[in-house]
Amino acid sequence: MAAQPAFHCSACGAAHSKWAGRCDSCGAWNSIIEDDAPGRGVKRGRVLQLADLGALPELPPQTPSGVDELDRVLGGGLVKGSAVLLGGDPGIGKSTLLLQAAARFARGGLSTVYVTGEESAAQVQMRASRLNLGASPLRLAAETSLRDILATIEAESPDLVVIDSIQTMWLDSIQSAPGTVSQVRAAAHELTTMAKRRGTAVILVGHVTKDGTIAGPRTIEHMVDTVLYFEGDPGHQFRILRAVKNRFGPAGEIGVFEMTGRGLIEVKNPSSLFLSERTRRTPGSVVFAGIEGTRAVLCEIQALVAGAPSGQARRSVVGWDGGRLAMILAVLDARAGLGFAGLDVYLNVAGGLRIGEPAADLAVALALVSAQTGMVVDPDCVIFGEIGLSGALRPVAQAEIRLKEARKLGFTGAILPVRPRRTGRQDAGAEEAGAMQLREFADLPMVVTALFGPGAGSDSGVEG
Ligand code: TYD
Ligand code: MG
Repeated sequence: MAAQPAFHCSACGAAHSKWAGRCDSCGAWNSIIEDDAPGRGVKRGRVLQLADLGALPELPPQTPSGVDELDRVLGGGLVKGSAVLLGGDPGIGKSTLLLQAAARFARGGLSTVYVTGEESAAQVQMRASRLNLGASPLRLAAETSLRDILATIEAESPDLVVIDSIQTMWLDSIQSAPGTVSQVRAAAHELTTMAKRRGTAVILVGHVTKDGTIAGPRTIEHMVDTVLYFEGDPGHQFRILRAVKNRFGPAGEIGVFEMTGRGLIEVKNPSSLFLSERTRRTPGSVVFAGIEGTRAVLCEIQALVAGAPSGQARRSVVGWDGGRLAMILAVLDARAGLGFAGLDVYLNVAGGLRIGEPAADLAVALALVSAQTGMVVDPDCVIFGEIGLSGALRPVAQAEIRLKEARKLGFTGAILPVRPRRTGRQDAGAEEAGAMQLREFADLPMVVTALFGPGAGSDSGVEG
């Protein structure tokens, strides 16, 4: 007699009469789930037709803080019942940012509790008065016992709870010390579960630590809806808030702030800020037109090439990927005849910005050639384009937005890969670029020859 299938594979949907560790239909492991008894609503693990799922669930409501640079990174605002992780190096300004944000949310009508496990209530109060937030309806708790904090949340029913930091919280049911992986995970689990159940938004602060014994924010990234990192060079006043994961908005979005004596202020036009310290007509300096999230951001890329005093040549990168630099150096060598062997190479993205886009390849390559030859790249020209291993230049996304931002900031030229032409009408990019002179190239050797002359790539330009 054929048994009624009572199990389904959650990977391929195949029906099974009994449970097994591996689905013999698709080969997936641990994917077989028991169906609920018939007549008890939607069955767990059952594969459904997308069309049968009915109306779309409503998006959870979002509350903007009024701080545009923060709201954009959050995907529009704070989502009810969501869990947000804010990571960053100690001292970068996480507490300052969240105290300011919490005060804004509180003033906007969200009932908000700021829990500090790192400072005394008096210290936070002093900071709040320095930030001119003294009169805010924000509530404050100096507490590290999670059990007490959860009881407080139950009693007060706030809309938003800030936990500063997750590494100082501890649960008495866990043996290990606060800050250890098991404490941090358990505390984050309790808080995110509470957030979902009560509809309370929770923002967790996590210090990034290099010490392996203390659990960094990485260990709880998967538990939260949104992961933000606060970055910047501590010796510099610029701070960048970056969404690396966001269930409610685009990841990759950035917000830019400046740390001042009275807290963080928003930077509405990051490009002019990142270019403000540029010295024009310096060999090794070029302007890259990048995209961060939905915005174009121009920044200066600086390269320095120097003879390596002792055999081992150094490659040092700040703000870009070291592996990508190695690739660009190899392509310059193999395709354009520009060797960097025996030379120290330093690459820096000015202003503390960290670039992840391959679109920066061409700007990096030209900064390197400029540094090596001592020849200046036109300072009124922006550069972007991806470089392939063959030396070919690949067009990059959103060229029009990059050109528009460059023109807005007074740049008169651009060096970029040949763009795919649209047939039958004038190229929209040319319209956007207006009066800019666009110099489009198909490959790296052609750009190098056009900018630095035919001698630059002959391999002899290095040491004379
Ligand atoms: P903080 O927010 O305490 O950093 P985190 O919580 O990430 O450890 O900020 C620390 C630094 O910011 C500290 O060096 C002092 C500086 N700061 C200002 O420059 N201006 C200010 O208004 C405040 C409150 C802090
Ligand atoms: Mg802090």
